[in-house]
This record gives sequence, structure tokens and C-alpha cells, in this order.
Amino acid sequence: MGLDLRLRSTSPGLLALPWLQPLATWDATEVPLRDVPVGPSRHLVRFVDTDGARWALKELPVRIAQKEYAVLRDLEARALPAVRPAGLVVQPQEDTAILVTRYLERSWQYRRLLMRIPPDQTAHRDRLLDALASLLVDLHRHGLFWGDCSLANTLFSRDGQVLQAYLVDAETSEIHPRLSNGQRAHDIDIMVENVAGGLVDVALRLDQPPEQFDDLIAAAESVGSRYQALWDVLHAEPVFSYDDRYQVESRIRQLHDLGFAVDEVNLVSSAGTDQLRLKVAVAARRYHASQLHDLTGLDVGEGQARILLLDMRAFQAHVQQQSHTDMADASAALRWIDEVLRPGMARVADLGEPIQAYCDLLEVRWLLSEQAGADVGDEAAIAALRDRTVPPASAAGMAVAEAATGQLVALTPDMLEAMSHDEP
Ligand SMILES: Nc1ncnc2c1ncn2[C@@H]1O[C@H](COP(=O)(O)OP(=O)(O)O)[C@@H](O)[C@H]1O
Ligand SMILES: [Mg+2]
Repeated sequence: MGLDLRLRSTSPGLLALPWLQPLATWDATEVPLRDVPVGPSRHLVRFVDTDGARWALKELPVRIAQKEYAVLRDLEARALPAVRPAGLVVQPQEDTAILVTRYLERSWQYRRLLMRIPPDQTAHRDRLLDALASLLVDLHRHGLFWGDCSLANTLFSRDGQVLQAYLVDAETSEIHPRLSNGQRAHDIDIMVENVAGGLVDVALRLDQPPEQFDDLIAAAESVGSRYQALWDVLHAEPVFSYDDRYQVESRIRQLHDLGFAVDEVNLVSSAGTDQLRLKVAVAARRYHASQLHDLTGLDVGEGQARILLLDMRAFQAHVQQQSHTDMADASAALRWIDEVLRPGMARVADLGEPIQAYCDLLEVRWLLSEQAGADVGDEAAIAALRDRTVPPASAAGMAVAEAATGQLVALTPDMLEAMSHDEP
């Protein structure tokens, strides 16, 4: 087979790489290679910095690489959370190809994340497992059978006060028009087994006593129940009488609270009864994100948008109260960007990615104010973020966060510490 080079970015630096040589032999003195720690992997993965971007290069057999490239392109077209394919280079000598993906900025592999979080802080681990379960639900809803869902094949990034999981390894994946229950169950079994392996791997590295391993197995099994709980909410078809049709509203609110937009609401009765069956076509998990985007043009994560919208609404209410006049959402949003968001992001510019840092500022200000019984202001919150003296979420804080997100918990200092570094 000859060389077949396919790049989706016309980056001269990528084109200049020594594609004819095996990836292992690339020389760091000639190629802009970057040492980036990677999760457990089968194949050789190396990273290159060129033309202002970072790329992940993975060398693997041609057939598998082609399949993975196609699946990743498909996931991109459906805007699903996965690494983005940037190229596929079939090498002429051996049966090898190099799959190029865009480096997922500010992402974490589970091992580095869990090893930084004290093992007794199971709330953080739970959050990680929620993120993985909800990723698999998202993928399944779009017909992707993963085939190797694991912590090692996933990257995590902060999204407001929750974690967003991304698929990174699609070697074993297939896309179908829809998945059967059997296919889904098989994928869940694979996930549970792999997660158990991943958690035990971390425990061994941390020299945790084997007595605690039972707890890890239970945690791994919980990923299956987390998946099922979310799947059931999304696919529930409640039945009620015509007079109780107000229940439609609460069903929709429940989906919105979980971040899902609603595509279509369908009420059908079978002949001869007054019982209605409610079917809701659930759209993408971008309910708050698309609302914020419509108002402001900002493109942020669903978890971040949830927080920013609350901030925007609070600003709007404040201005309306002061001026005793109504302010339209669109003008409130524009003023909020200029008067609140931009200055706020500038003040936390040294604390990481600006949107996420601003979300942290809001959360920490809220936690501190709650503790103090009065608004402590931005300065106190910024100081706490800098010194990492963020108070643990109070019981009330937890309740609010839980109500807003289903099962997730609020930010705590360890989590912040663990995830505040830009470089994994
Ligand atoms: N686009 C990317 N951005 C960031 N990290 C990546 C990317 N692609 C791969 N990695 C890192 O490389 C590791 C191995 O990648 P993976 O596709 O799972 O390879 P393998 O087939 O060898 O298992 C991942 O766990 C991740 O840490
Ligand atoms: Mg892998």
C-alpha cells in the first residue's frame, strides 16, 4: 500500500511531519513533540505542537484506524462529546496508520484525577461516574455501540460544577440506526467491568488496603444503575387522565433540570379510555447552553450555561428593581456581558480558563456568603480561590446543587485543587 495522507486542517506544520517514518522513531530534535502523560493505552500515542495547536497522534493497524476515523467523524457531525478527528495517514511500509485528533484542551484522564483526590472523597468519584454514565447514555441515544467504554478511554473536563466526559477511543465502536436493548446491556456490562478495573488500578497505585476493594466493585456497579436511572427518565412514558395533563409541565421541567431540551411533546389516548400516554422526544443535553447562546452568542458547556444564566437573571432582576421598569431579556443579556461577565472574567484571568474561572468565582462567592450570612463580594471569593481556602459545600449548598443537577454535588476545595491546573 502507498502513502495516503488525509488532513482536515491545512496546517503546514502538520503536513511537514515525517509521515513516512514509524511514529516511535520520530525524533524530538526535529519534530515538535510534546511529552504529555497519557492514560493506559494499547497503542503508541504521541503529541505534536504545531501552528498554534496541539494534536494527538496514535499509530495503529490500518483497518482499525480507518474505522475509528469514520466513527469519530460521525460523532463530530452529531455534535457528541468525543475527541475530534483531524486526519488519517496510511503509511506505505507496514500495515500501520496514524490517526490524528485534536488535543482535548483542559481535559483529565481519570488516573491523574482520582489520584489527586483523597480516596474518602467519594462525592468526587461519584461525579466522575455520573459523567461516564451520562456519556454512554448520550452515545447510545445516537446509536453508538462503544464496545470498550472505560475510564481509560474517556477524558474528563470541568463544566461549571459538573464534569463532562468525552469519548477518546472508538476503535471498537460501531454506529447503528438504533441500538437494541441487548446491545445496550452488553455495552453497560463492558462499562461496569472496565470501571471496576480502572478503580482497582488507582487503589493499587495508592496502596489502598484490599478490604476496600469491595466498595470499589460496588461503585463500579453503580455506573450501571446511574446509566439506567438516566435512561429511564429520558424514556419514561407516564400515563394519566386528561384532567391531570398539567403533569406534562412537570415532566418537561424535569428534563430541563437535567439539561435536556425537548423536541416534541406527544399525548395519545387509546380508544375508549380517558387515559393519556405522554411521549416526549428528548433533544440534545444543551437546554441552558442553547438558551444562553441565543441570548448572548456565548458558546459554553451546559453546566457552565446553567450557572451563567442564573447570574444573568439575578442581574436583570437587580436592574429592574432599581429602575422600577422591565428590561427585555435581550438587552439584559447584553448589559450583563458588558457590566458583569467581562469585568468578572478579567478579575479571575489568572485562575484558569476564563468562563470556568468565572463560574468558580460565583460558586465560591455563594458558598462564602452563605457561611457568612451576607454577601461577601467578589474580592473575598477571589482571595479564597487563590489561596484554596474554599469552604466545603454546606448542607444547604448540596441540596441546591442536587436539586439543580439530579445527583451531583457542589464544588469543594479538593476538587478545585485537583482540577485547577491547566496541564494535566
Ligand atoms: N485527542 C486527545 N486529547 C487528549 N488526550 C488524548 C487524545 N487522544 C489520546 N489521548 C490520550 O491517549 C490515551 C490513549 O488513547 P486511546 O485512544 O485510548 O489509545 P489506545 O488505543 O492505545 O487505548 C488516552 O487515554 C488519552 O490520555
Ligand atoms: Mg484506549
